[in-house]
Amino acid sequence: MKIQILTLFPDMVRQGLSAGIIGRAVTQGLLSIEAIDIRDYTKDIHRKVDDYPYGGGAGMLMQAQPVYDAWCAARERAGAAVRTVYLTPQGETFTQEHAKAFAKEDGLILLCGHYEGIDERVLDTVVTDYISIGDYVLTGGELAAMVLTDAVARMVPGVLGNERSGEAESFEGELLEYPQYSRPRVWRGMPVPDVLLSGNQRQIDAWRREQSEERTRLRRPDLYEKYCRLWDCHKRLMRQKLLHIDMTELIVRGKAHVLYDDGEEICLLDKESGIRFATAGEEDAGRRMLFSLLREDGGGLFAVHQEFLADLLEREYGYARIMTCEQAVYTRREKIPVRGRYLAADPAGGTLQTDQRPRICRLTPDWLDTVAAHYEMTGSAGADLPYLMERLEKGWMFGAFLDGQLAGFAGMHTEGSIGFLTVLPEYRRRGIGGALETYLINEMTERGFTPYGQIEEGNTGSVRLQESLGLCFSREKIFWLQR
Ligand code: ADE
Repeated sequence: MKIQILTLFPDMVRQGLSAGIIGRAVTQGLLSIEAIDIRDYTKDIHRKVDDYPYGGGAGMLMQAQPVYDAWCAARERAGAAVRTVYLTPQGETFTQEHAKAFAKEDGLILLCGHYEGIDERVLDTVVTDYISIGDYVLTGGELAAMVLTDAVARMVPGVLGNERSGEAESFEGELLEYPQYSRPRVWRGMPVPDVLLSGNQRQIDAWRREQSEERTRLRRPDLYEKYCRLWDCHKRLMRQKLLHIDMTELIVRGKAHVLYDDGEEICLLDKESGIRFATAGEEDAGRRMLFSLLREDGGGLFAVHQEFLADLLEREYGYARIMTCEQAVYTRREKIPVRGRYLAADPAGGTLQTDQRPRICRLTPDWLDTVAAHYEMTGSAGADLPYLMERLEKGWMFGAFLDGQLAGFAGMHTEGSIGFLTVLPEYRRRGIGGALETYLINEMTERGFTPYGQIEEGNTGSVRLQESLGLCFSREKIFWLQR
């Protein structure tokens, strides 16, 4: 990702972003950050970039010409249309959701204002997003641009290191962090809580969760209220666990935002993928839910859990059905015994294997073309290239290798289901699919997730595979629609 910052104080920005994790990411080439001096683009012989505002008033205004020319230079270097963010106290308040969304862009231009602001005409011409970092006024946009850059950069795959992908963090964004302690065990008479020395990970996790909840309740009652609401939805959805596993897992994985909640009628937004998931107890209440949700609808993907909701979306809102699925859930807490199904190792060795067990390992983005060539892109809900790339970058695609050759692959969709299962024709009927699925189920179980998959109607081969691995099927279907 390439971030270009248009500023009157390029040194301040360069220095501020050259240290620590962000500095390292830049050195490693995961990220490029450039500060562009707006003053270099002025046509004024005294390098002036400001002037008095028409109509009078206090202070000076940055003029349109130097800002526009600096922006044109940045736009040209970006090589494509990029979002231009103007940092201003008049913008939308910056949140983690903005950070995640911006991190998906290939490039960003950040515009820092000074004095009393910037000539409105150039803002109207170049700015796509107006962002504030809080309800207070700074002397310029530089500190805000650095805050935004830091928060966006840490969401770029690889910047935090593979061990901490944003996606693996459960409950992220809903609760404040629990308290942490390091050596010594007793400091100024204050001991570290006993539970943290117990070695019992379950007890430690439970304690941390309690602490997080209590801290959030006391310090951020606004967040705590949202958290309680979400878990109240979770409780109701769990009454039909198999049908609603996609929705409950969104909550467990810290990705859900409640769009609608009225007893049996619930609609969640997956904050990451933007997909909406809806369920309803009965048709009239479902109709009310859709009416309230879709008054100002920009379209997108919808997964609904009753056929009457699918019908309503089609008939009354112009959505089209793209897929009907059954949901299969791995309900046990313990992992599936591997029993010679696969070896979890690096395929690079390429040594001939004497047995027929595939080696399974994470696929890197280098595998994009191969994966795309073999993955059947089913309907419009299937995967396009950017989506496959995103999954590879996030580390959620795994390959099965026999004698160093790719025999099949599988992965996790953004919203959390196991999918992409593909076995190359010459490797079929050799247990590769079962090996890949077992591997993914075990990976997810280890992270405390409930593994599940959505199987398109009529895919009997996949149904048989899920059954053989002990997954349970929801009797009701899930309908995917798009507009
Ligand atoms: N420029 C001045 N104050 C600001 C703020 N609060 N957020 C973003 N940019 C700013």
